[in-house]
Amino acid sequence: MQIIRVKDKHEGSLKAFEMIKEGIANGAKVLGLATGSTPEELYAEIRKSDLDFSEMISINLDEYVGLNEDDEQSYRTFMRQHLFDAKPFKESFVPNGKASDLEAEARHYDEIISTHPIDIQILGLGQNGHIGFNEPATPFDSTTHIVDLTESTINANKRFFDKVEDVPTKAVSMGIHSIFTAKEIILMAWGEAKADAVKAMVNGEITEEMPASILQKHENVVVIVDEEAASKL
Ligand code: GLP
Repeated sequence: MQIIRVKDKHEGSLKAFEMIKEGIANGAKVLGLATGSTPEELYAEIRKSDLDFSEMISINLDEYVGLNEDDEQSYRTFMRQHLFDAKPFKESFVPNGKASDLEAEARHYDEIISTHPIDIQILGLGQNGHIGFNEPATPFDSTTHIVDLTESTINANKRFFDKVEDVPTKAVSMGIHSIFTAKEIILMAWGEAKADAVKAMVNGEITEEMPASILQKHENVVVIVDEEAASKL
């Protein structure tokens, strides 16, 4: 694990941007993308850049169950607003949270990932150490699956919804194994609320109770943290 400490999320997002740019120059064709507030500034940097994704594939980590693709709060909408409308990919995959057979949707998503192995995976970090929507106790060998969101995650994400009852309680998420197969992983974390999870991820025991701790075993992970998120390292 390479740890890069930066002053703030602006500096960190620029760093991530440069790494992606370099990865693409070196032949990366498939980007694994994340939602949440963490990558917002990275996507803003990409939007104003001359990067061209028209020959590339994107694969998103997760989607809420029960939201329509065009729902204001869906992750598909988030990606359109923050990236896809400005920088279209040849193909962009986001799980379908409205699929009538969610198990089949999960298997289909795994096929997409094996057809398009991820070159660079962007990750945020949940306050409880989740990556994607892989909550504590998710098996390390998990592939795409249906997740019951924890209370902590529902509370953390309620700021995006009018009221907490509107936050979906389930999601479709790439599994930990699926994430681990990415050739390179760039995880970003900003702010004090992430400091405990960053500490456990970097220095703690590798345990399914702390999903991100598995990244200690990946051979090409860069963790970009601002001063506050790194404050307990
Ligand atoms: C959500 C997403 C994760 C994200 C996490 C952190 O649960 N599924 O992919 O990393 O939240 O969110 P934020 O970046 O807003 O702190």
